[in-house]
Amino acid sequence: MKFHCVDAAALHQAGEQLAASLCAGDVVLLEGGLGAGKTTFAQGIARGLGVTEAVTSPTYAIVNEYMSGRLPLFHVDVYRLEAADELVSAGIAELVGESGVWLVEWASRFPGAWPESSLEVRIREVGEGRVVEVLGR
Ligand SMILES: Nc1ncnc2c1ncn2[C@@H]1O[C@H](COP(=O)(O)OP(=O)(O)O)[C@@H](O)[C@H]1O
Ligand SMILES: [Mg+2]
Repeated sequence: MKFHCVDAAALHQAGEQLAASLCAGDVVLLEGGLGAGKTTFAQGIARGLGVTEAVTSPTYAIVNEYMSGRLPLFHVDVYRLEAADELVSAGIAELVGESGVWLVEWASRFPGAWPESSLEVRIREVGEGRVVEVLGR
């Protein structure tokens, strides 16, 4: 799947569309530099799952949980982690891919930490907008 998103609202819509096909246990690795739109896309997925709470960046919390949608949603940002063993101490290494949908920002910092079957979403800036590619790993 490939989406051309002219603005943040279009990126939300792309996330909503992907959400429709997500199942419990799915892990979605969100790739793209700072400000690419990973959190914006995650907000679209949350909306598509029917999450009613406001979805904010988990950069400081590391993982935010949302239980109000059709599936539990775990939104992870590993930007601030320095070593893979912090994924273990945060409980993420053990839980990722269990019950619910997992979204991981900056997953490529710890390439070996995610299930083989994860989906990858690559977001890149193109002119004023963004191109989003959804790939199976
Ligand atoms: N399709 C788009 N075109 C232009 N700007 C966008 C688009 N999507 C998102 N943005 C803007 O880019 C920024 C992305 O921020 P954010 O989603 O927090 O990125 P990340 O989580 O990748 O660091 C936001 O300011 C948002 O409004
Ligand atoms: Mg972010």
